[in-house]
Amino acid sequence: MIKAVAVITVSDTCFKDNSKDESGPALCHLVKKLFPDSNLHTIIVPDEREMIERELKYFCDSNLDLILTTGGTGLSPRDVTPEATKVVIHKEIPSISVALTLESLKKTPMAMLSRSVAGLRDKTLIVNLPGSKKAVLECFEVIKPILPHAIALVR
Ligand code: MTE
Repeated sequence: MIKAVAVITVSDTCFKDNSKDESGPALCHLVKKLFPDSNLHTIIVPDEREMIERELKYFCDSNLDLILTTGGTGLSPRDVTPEATKVVIHKEIPSISVALTLESLKKTPMAMLSRSVAGLRDKTLIVNLPGSKKAVLECFEVIKPILPHAIALVR
């Protein structure tokens, strides 16, 4: 049974003005629907690699089951979420990224521009999602079917 989930919004804009964050709340809504009994933690961090790494490690050390990030996966100079995630994970799960890309390409060719990473640090599953609300809604549908089993396997 899934106990705790973190949703991390990675965005300079949303860090400065929390009210601009649409994707984090949308993701929280989806997580609550899928895992109604889970404790949900949310945070907004700027596109700073060290801060992203620190928050990822903090939530992993807190023994969370799942961390979903939104934002910072693209090609802008400040987009470093995948780099931070790669440093933190012990095992990469490339097929989750492949599935996200393949399914997202059915929605938009811009899916090619997301460099989302997924992997495990200890018993915590981390998945990067792109930053827009639309992308979050689409990508969550892709990973939704595998999340309960993936988390059960790790525990
Ligand atoms: N994936 C899905 N499913 N739907 C989308 O609308 N947007 C793309 C891509 N992936 C998109 C998507 C766009 S426009 C960009 S620039 C990249 O994700 C990276 O987004 P990010 O930098 O906000 O993480």
